[in-house]
Amino acid sequence: MTDRPIAIYGATGYTGKLVAQELARRGAPMVLSGRSPEKLEAAAEAARAAGGEVVRTAPAAIDDPAALIGAFDGAATVINAAGPFVFTGAPVLRAAIAAGVHYVDTTGEQPWIRETFDRFGPDLERAGVAAVAGMGFDYVPGDLLCHLVGRAAEPLRELIVAYDVQGFDPTRGTMRSSLEMLKGGDVVYEDGDWVPAPTGVRRASVVFPAPIGRRTMGSYPCGEQITVPRHVRTRRVVSLISTRALAPPQAEQTLPYLVPGLAAALRIDPLREGISAKIGDLPEGPPEDARRAVRWTIVCFARGEDGAEARGLVSGPDIYGLTAVTVVHGALLLAAGGVSGAHAPASAFDAQAFLAHLAPFGVHWERA
Ligand SMILES: NC(=O)c1ccc[n+]([C@@H]2O[C@H](COP(=O)([O-])OP(=O)(O)OC[C@H]3O[C@@H](n4cnc5c(N)ncnc54)[C@H](OP(=O)(O)O)[C@@H]3O)[C@@H](O)[C@H]2O)c1
Repeated sequence: MTDRPIAIYGATGYTGKLVAQELARRGAPMVLSGRSPEKLEAAAEAARAAGGEVVRTAPAAIDDPAALIGAFDGAATVINAAGPFVFTGAPVLRAAIAAGVHYVDTTGEQPWIRETFDRFGPDLERAGVAAVAGMGFDYVPGDLLCHLVGRAAEPLRELIVAYDVQGFDPTRGTMRSSLEMLKGGDVVYEDGDWVPAPTGVRRASVVFPAPIGRRTMGSYPCGEQITVPRHVRTRRVVSLISTRALAPPQAEQTLPYLVPGLAAALRIDPLREGISAKIGDLPEGPPEDARRAVRWTIVCFARGEDGAEARGLVSGPDIYGLTAVTVVHGALLLAAGGVSGAHAPASAFDAQAFLAHLAPFGVHWERA
């Protein structure tokens, strides 16, 4: 365990506060940073009440590079929990590199994950620090599972990753990030390269293990499209999510047909900004019992060039609680040293050991 603190940017948000609790549980000192000094003081009080060692609070606006660098100075790793990451990712990562500090975040936004590799990879290598974006529920279990399953049959003709989530109640931050994701601009990995994702309707079905059974699926612009080809030899990645994860039962069947129109509408900036402002009137996120009651299952199918097949699944509870556990574990592993550059979860860390760390939290994985 490092004796340097772990910094949290966005420490005042729903997820940031869970991350502080997890750092307290792990006995790691922390620096709490974000744009609001008053909210940071309240977050520090809550973290200390949970037994956490808050070294300092460090207010820093996202457009103030000097303040961000000052906030991260002396830390081992910064955990960015402030989204949407298409706005906050680059300033926070740039400051982390300038301060010589590792970087992890809780993003689910594929364009930002791609940017960490394409735009920041060389700078990270030069600075000798590492960045792993998408270190929460999105996309740690999925990326690690794809690694363990895909490696068993590579080189692959195709790798399919499919998500089912039950009882999900998103936070305001997730809703705002989803608005940015739904407007499009994502890519898929096809024929050994990244190409713009098709914009038309995509409807599929996947059979999950009992008691879930067959689910209607839509395409999912997930991070595995970016990360998996960096550690598994595959020609193609297909990513799907069950429609019940995203819509109430009445809209579930029609959702795949609605998404293209919704995406076109959300590309209109004032409309997106108006919806984002309205989200501010909603509750911060689910209460603790509802958060803990969520159940998710991810399956992976790999088809080798030679016809070999491999499959597996990973499942567990509590998307937001799990995110705090995975992002903190990643931050502490990077703090221990030995990794630099832009990484996927499975290229930065040992996949089996990381999943074993999640077992006490209720995460189960198997090769089927
Ligand atoms: N995919 C996953 O598995 C997963 C899981 C958990 C979270 N997340 C992502 O993590 C992010 C945060 O989620 P959340 O639920 O914690 O949301 P939240 O409760 O709304 O918190 C958002 C945090 O970001 C800060 N922030 C937002 N815009 C900012 C800006 N322009 N400058 C500086 N700080 C800014 C907020 O500061 P203020 O308090 O000052 O407003 C707050 O600390 C979202 O993008 C969400 O999608 C993803």
